[in-house]
Amino acid sequence: MNAIDRYAVIGNPIAHSKSPRIHSRFAASVGHQLTYEALLAPLDGFAATVAEFVRGGGRGANVTLPFKLEAHALATELSERARAAGAVNTLCFEGERIFGDNTDGIGMVTDIVRNAGVALQGRRILLLGAGGAARGALLPLIEEQPAQLVIANRTPARAEQLAQQFSAYGADLRACSFDAIAGRFDVVINATSASLARELPPIPPGALDEGGFAYDMMYGAQATVFMEFSAAQGAAVRDGLGMLVEQAAESFFLWRGVRPDTAAVFAELRTELRAEAHAKSLAGL
Ligand code: ATR
Repeated sequence: MNAIDRYAVIGNPIAHSKSPRIHSRFAASVGHQLTYEALLAPLDGFAATVAEFVRGGGRGANVTLPFKLEAHALATELSERARAAGAVNTLCFEGERIFGDNTDGIGMVTDIVRNAGVALQGRRILLLGAGGAARGALLPLIEEQPAQLVIANRTPARAEQLAQQFSAYGADLRACSFDAIAGRFDVVINATSASLARELPPIPPGALDEGGFAYDMMYGAQATVFMEFSAAQGAAVRDGLGMLVEQAAESFFLWRGVRPDTAAVFAELRTELRAEAHAKSLAGL
């Protein structure tokens, strides 16, 4: 009897990860037999957790906070986008070989271009933030060939460093502080962690074209402040739930060679988020 292929998401904390459910749905939808579990790694025990998982027959893993940099270091081979991102969210185990990829950025681009139907080619894009999330998004964004790509960050030196690093990929890249944002943009992407603290990155009103598109990499039951701000200016808005599902689909494709349909899982997660919010409001939380 063939052993069933094992996959996992490794992080700390990990209990609330939606990945096991997303991947189980994907597997069922394409008729693959596999297991996908959530593994809690001790903060100082990522490599050991991976080694044990591989010994136990693990074929691939997603990696989440706080281990994406360690996964990058652990990989024996890296995709170009993982090298550019400096972080790995997907590992493939083949014998001694550990292949590391980063599907976060391409997941976001797929969600914008395919699911939201917003083309990025030839557009003026403003990327807010210069941390790990922004860095992971840059190469997939550049590959869409925007007319202009500006990185704005609270600490402008970090944005400048990213612009310098990624100018090697041939894009028209600029960096600035929030108050130096000039001109109007067709697409504004919030890759800061400000939404977690219910804060709005201080972008000047008018930076987002009326009829433009605003994307927040965060997701939740309610619109983020950034989404509310952007919608009030006449923009179409979208949160990062689709990015979560699409990065998972890209990992699934790497492991299994099949692209699962994402629409049903996305709809299920959205319904669930709304139900959770409703239950909380009934409980007065
Ligand atoms: P992540 O991995 O989520 O990108 P990170 O690497 O800690 O996390 O980066 C967080 C990003 O959000 C940074 O660009 C940070 O700006 P600084 O580089 O100036 O720290 C940005 N950020 C966090 N809170 C913010 C806020 N309230 N307003 C604007 N930017 C914020």
